[in-house]
Amino acid sequence: MTDSEQTSVVITGANKGLGFEAARRLGKQGWTVFLGSRDEGRGRAAADKLAAGGADVVLVPLDVTSDESVAGAVRLVREHTDRLDVLINNAGAPGNIVAPADATAEEVHAVYDTNVYGPIRVTHAFLPLLRAARHPRVVMVSSGGGSFAVVTDPQQPVSKMHELAYSSSKAALNMITIRYAQALPEIKFNIATPERSPTASSPPPT
Ligand SMILES: NC(=O)c1ccc[n+]([C@@H]2O[C@H](COP(=O)([O-])OP(=O)(O)OC[C@H]3O[C@@H](n4cnc5c(N)ncnc54)[C@H](OP(=O)(O)O)[C@@H]3O)[C@@H](O)[C@H]2O)c1
Repeated sequence: MTDSEQTSVVITGANKGLGFEAARRLGKQGWTVFLGSRDEGRGRAAADKLAAGGADVVLVPLDVTSDESVAGAVRLVREHTDRLDVLINNAGAPGNIVAPADATAEEVHAVYDTNVYGPIRVTHAFLPLLRAARHPRVVMVSSGGGSFAVVTDPQQPVSKMHELAYSSSKAALNMITIRYAQALPEIKFNIATPERSPTASSPPPT
């Protein structure tokens, strides 16, 4: 095991999209990036890309829906460090957009497994390593779609996107984050809600 003064971060679902971009930016800042990916091949390709740019990156096979996979991820991270400064629960499943009348519990469950139980599974497993850090932080990547205010605002396109699974999973994640923050004040919990940049076809709200 090697420990250092470098800030360390675990990012779930970091083989592409926002997770990959966060990994790239934090790697550039000299952080040790534990790049989570449920698919080892896709994760290896992403990690190699960042390593080629000079990042200190370790591929961590991590499927947030599997207790076994998450336990393996913790074991691997422990081989490199005895503390974890930051955990970013980024992995997310959009699910299919199914009208509420047609949605089944099975479909909703699959989305919750990634977006709700996933962050709980991962946060719970990494708590001992987080608690060993001086200023531990957990970031939950949520969505404006999980906000009651946004979803009930007729000006917001998401108010007309009729589905159950994704928005309710992110609303649950928001509450879970608040409850963690209240119960574990020694760890800073943050909710991040990414937004697409405004374009000419979608001007910013006035
Ligand atoms: N992009 C946006 O505009 C936006 C807006 C609001 C919120 N968000 C949230 O931001 C986060 C990232 O979104 P994104 O746009 O970057 O999505 P993305 O490009 O689809 O990437 C999602 C990542 O999550 C991974 N993932 C899915 N299920 C997983 C599982 N069971 N275990 C581990 N990893 C899993 C995917 O892995 P695979 O490659 O193997 O599928 C992928 O790496 C999500 O939580 C999303 O809800 C995004």
